[in-house]
Amino acid sequence: MSARLVIVSHRGPGGGGGVASGLDAVLRRTAGCWIASDGVPRPYPLRRIELSPAESEGYYRGYANGGLWPLCHTLVERASFRGEQWECYRRVNARFAEAAAEAAAPGAAVWVHDYQLALVPAMLRERRPDLRIGFFWHIPWPSPGIWRLCPQDGAILSGILGADVIGMHTEAYVTAFRAVAGPMAPARSLPMGVDFEGIATAAMQAPMERRMRRMAKTLRVADQTVLLGVDRCDYTKGIPQRLSAVTALFRQSPEYRGRVTFVQVASPTRAGIRSYERLRRLIRAQAVAINREFSRPGWSPVRLLTRRLDFPQILALYRLAAAAVVTPLVDGMNLVAKEFCAARVDDQGCLVLSRTAGAATQLATAVFANPLYPDGLASAMRTAIAMAPDEQRLRMRGLREEVRRHDIYGWLQANLGALGIEVEGLGRAPLRTALADRWEPAAGLQALPVRRTVPGPGHRVRHALPELPPQPSS
Ligand code: G6P
Repeated sequence: MSARLVIVSHRGPGGGGGVASGLDAVLRRTAGCWIASDGVPRPYPLRRIELSPAESEGYYRGYANGGLWPLCHTLVERASFRGEQWECYRRVNARFAEAAAEAAAPGAAVWVHDYQLALVPAMLRERRPDLRIGFFWHIPWPSPGIWRLCPQDGAILSGILGADVIGMHTEAYVTAFRAVAGPMAPARSLPMGVDFEGIATAAMQAPMERRMRRMAKTLRVADQTVLLGVDRCDYTKGIPQRLSAVTALFRQSPEYRGRVTFVQVASPTRAGIRSYERLRRLIRAQAVAINREFSRPGWSPVRLLTRRLDFPQILALYRLAAAAVVTPLVDGMNLVAKEFCAARVDDQGCLVLSRTAGAATQLATAVFANPLYPDGLASAMRTAIAMAPDEQRLRMRGLREEVRRHDIYGWLQANLGALGIEVEGLGRAPLRTALADRWEPAAGLQALPVRRTVPGPGHRVRHALPELPPQPSS
């Protein structure tokens, strides 16, 4: 019982995501402790809640990712809830709450994260009424009608309402939450940001130029207009729909064949869930089909990268792209959209964005597109490709200003401030250098095996997992 600040989240430090890196930087400067199911050792205490295979199945793959995740993204037909998974979710949440109760100093602040741990606030309040408890819900909050499809809707609301402060990304989610939790629910909209200055600084440095050249060479896009998608390979991200729009683009605008390449990063996530495996197969098959339809000697329209890239490699892609196509079906916030803007120190590049991403409420000068309408999305891509540098600059400056003003440090400060915690120097350079997970040196693109196969009549893709879809010989 010694931590002044306890972070509780499913994922722990070291995974490389933006939130985890920001929280890690905070804990390095406070007498804090982190409770998570995974994570790598840190200078501060990390208490790991080891999950048994049955717990991973029932709590993580089952209730959280088979029930709450699709339901809250309004993809109702994908959601299912089972009694034994709910029991497991409750038991695992109780283990996290127990660990937090043990770790927190008298009167400490505990900050709990996301839909995997919605019961922790109330469970913790019961064990330790002296604590100040914050909760952040990182995904959308659905409309009341949809929320009622959750069989344990009341229990989950009571769990969340154990917190003193509840954060969500947008006003719309807060309104939807209050509609079921009551008008007095202590929920606030606190849109999360990215490390604007850290990203901008890295994007300006000389190694970035080299990395961009290397990336362009390896992907063979040096002479191409690059359209870019960067996502976890999740069905909420609208990747198959985006690839349909890419097909429409090349069918409708043959002049782009040979000149435009769509690079899609679909990084692995949620292994062992069948719907995710199906999605990976679908996306690969689509990429292969597009390449088969349009490829020419020396040119393939789609590059699909299914490995996890390190952050400097992603940054190089952000800098190379003429446009980032960020078109999730529904998304709590979407930090890729913000990272892309932060990286565009040249004030160039166009952001194509779904209105159904939380980020759309802030990024007003994006080009908006509907992920469910391939013709419209193809036309937004054409707009992006053809946009004059002056208009790109005007739009990008507006986007960057917004991303700069609402960065991750402001977000951390607002959330921790609400819990009565002040972290000195938050956002200044020494803290940024602590964001080590994101800035590990690039492994180099050798990490991306480039496989080439030569499609001919009756060609079959022999590689079960082609890293880059096949292309004709040049
Ligand atoms: C979303 C969720 C996070 C989750 C992340 C990655 O951003 O809001 O809580 O950690 O996806 O998913 P995974 O299941 O791999 O942790």
